[in-house]
Amino acid sequence: MNNSSIPVIAIDGPSASGKGTVAQLVADKLGYHYLDSGALYRIVALAALKRHIPWDNETALAEMTTSLKIEFKAADIFLNEENVSEQVRTEQMSQGASQVAIHPRVRQTLTKLQHSFRKSPGLVADGRDMATVIFPDAKTKIFLTASAEVRADRRYKQLLNKGLAADHAAILKDLKDRDARDKQRTVAPLQQASDAHLLETSQLNIEQAVDKAMNFIAQSA
Ligand code: DC
Repeated sequence: MNNSSIPVIAIDGPSASGKGTVAQLVADKLGYHYLDSGALYRIVALAALKRHIPWDNETALAEMTTSLKIEFKAADIFLNEENVSEQVRTEQMSQGASQVAIHPRVRQTLTKLQHSFRKSPGLVADGRDMATVIFPDAKTKIFLTASAEVRADRRYKQLLNKGLAADHAAILKDLKDRDARDKQRTVAPLQQASDAHLLETSQLNIEQAVDKAMNFIAQSA
């Protein structure tokens, strides 16, 4: 079925930039569907861990990925009927997702699944390669970023608010490691598409970032 007339808003950016929150709020405002593509790589990392498949074994990871049953139901994510929403959000899975995501065959097996989210009346998709690879014909492309220090601060405060222990220096180092891995991989690296709007959020709160995103979307209407 040709669904290329269904509008897509692609929001890419680095880890902990707040793009997930912004993308979700934009989707709510527009009444569009929402794809959290990072969750797919997190699920692959988690499923591999459960099956003792190392994150650097591309062949085994790709074979495993084709057999996974992944479902999004409201705000929850299910892997083979198990609700894994909490398990995929750990720092260990952040690192794992970034490692399994470097493999071309893993990315390939997730492509069709990502395309299947393009449903009427529209889709807001967030990730690293939404504008460059998965939905190159997206109506609006936004590259949402913030400095590594600001992103580390936000993550640190989030953890403290949840009552969890947090080490600011370790968080900053992990973020920089992930940025480097996501930007330097050969396939679908994190980069701003040439036709994407830059949304720098270091000095913005969530509401201001959503307003700017909505302005970019209005401009491309
Ligand atoms: O957005 P996130 O932090 O949940 O993403 C986790 C990792 O998944 C990220 O470090 C790189 C990878 N990823 C990717 O390679 N391509 C995407 N479209 C989304 C995420």
